[in-house]
Formats: sequence, structure tokens, C-alpha cells
Amino acid sequence: MAMIECENLVKIYKTSEIEVIALQGLDLTVEKGEMMAMIGKSGSGKSTLLNILGGLDVPTAGRLFVDGRDMLKMKPKDRVIYKRETVGFVWQNNARNLLPYLTAEENVIQPMVLSGRKDKRRRAGELLEMVGLYNRRKNRLDQLSGGEQQRVAIAIALANEPALLLADEPTGSVDSKTADLIFDIFRDLNRQLNQTIVIVAPKQHRKRP
Ligand SMILES: Nc1ncnc2c1ncn2[C@@H]1O[C@H](COP(=O)(O)OP(=O)(O)OP(=O)(O)O)[C@@H](O)[C@H]1O
Ligand SMILES: [Mg+2]
Repeated sequence: MAMIECENLVKIYKTSEIEVIALQGLDLTVEKGEMMAMIGKSGSGKSTLLNILGGLDVPTAGRLFVDGRDMLKMKPKDRVIYKRETVGFVWQNNARNLLPYLTAEENVIQPMVLSGRKDKRRRAGELLEMVGLYNRRKNRLDQLSGGEQQRVAIAIALANEPALLLADEPTGSVDSKTADLIFDIFRDLNRQLNQTIVIVAPKQHRKRP
């Protein structure tokens, strides 16, 4: 089975005033070990799809299986575990999964505490090494630059060995040199560790993932 199997996926946001069709019958297959970059104009539904894949939002209709799980039938309890253990998420604005008053290492350890892993500190060190921040592991996040914080966010997303790594414009708020470095990290993860990745890439980025 593919990592993502999506058929005729529909997402409609209903507010009291209007209905917005954010996804209009999307078909998509992403194989295990694949890296898929999404490019599309603003409002085309990229974040909507990523949020659905991440278990943060539920489709209105269609079929969606992620890592063999039926995302339209998933129970709330399973969704909590899915979000913690099956997917890792990196946002454009990393403030969403970072704790500024903790060190880089403590931040990476955090999701592993919830899932009850044993070798937390060792794994955090390995992950920070992978994103090139091992020597900054004892720094608090508010002592790191925006690009460095974004690399910590990648390490956090990988902490529980997610089957699927999702990134919504992860280079949106860093300079182009840092953006290249971050894309290189994603590319290495995919090529060397066979990590499945779905990433929303800004159109203007010169280096393709
Ligand atoms: N919670 C919501 N309630 C109502 N409408 C929403 C909601 N979230 C998204 N939408 C609408 O759904 C459509 C798709 O939005 P989405 O955020 O997925 O676009 P996007 O492709 O990520 O755009 P961008 O490139 O600007 O980030 C837009 O028209 C948006 O206004
Ligand atoms: Mg978006």
C-alpha cells in the first residue's frame, strides 16, 4: 500500500455566511519513500491538504488512507496517537511547536516524553546532529536564529520516527541561503533515510527539493 492514497477528496469549510470549497475532488498517491513538493497559488488548498494529512482537520468527502489508516473513519482517540506517532509537522512559523524557554535538546525530547521512549537524550542528540545543531543543543531557543529554530523544528518533527513528514512552507520566513540549507536537510532525509515527505514549496524558490 502507498503511504498516501487519496481519491476524490473534498473539503468544504462552512461558516454561517458562506461555503468555501478548499479541495474539490483531489486524487493523489504518494508512495513510501517518496518526496512530494506541492506548488500552487494562494488559496488553492495546500495547507488544507496538509492539515488533513496531519490529522488536524477532517475531509468532508472522498477517500483518504495514510499509512493504511482510513482518515475519514478514524476515532478521536486514534487521531491523538496518529498525530503524535505517525506524522511529523513543520510549519512556516515555527512558534507553533517550539518552547522558547527550553533548550534545543529539551525541545526535541518533549514529544518523546509523551510517547514514552527510553533513549530520549541520545536520540535528541542524533537528531540535532543531523540538522547541524549538536553544538547548540544546550542553548535555549530564544538564543538561536530563526533558521536555527526551524532546524530544531525539523528535529522535533522527526523525534518519534514519523512514517510521514509534513512541511508547510518551512522556509517561508528565512533568507534564501538558510532556505537552501533547510531544503538540503529534507532532501538528505529522503535520500538517505527513505523518509516520506510532503512539502509545500514556495514557487519562487530557486532550488527544487
Ligand atoms: N478554517 C477555515 N474556514 C473557512 N475557510 C477556510 C479555512 N481554512 C481555509 N479556508 C479557505 O480554504 C481555501 C484554501 O485555503 P488554504 O489555506 O488551504 O490555501 P493555501 O493553498 O495553503 O494558500 P497559501 O499559499 O496562501 O498558504 C481558501 O479559500 C481559504 O480561505
Ligand atoms: Mg498555506
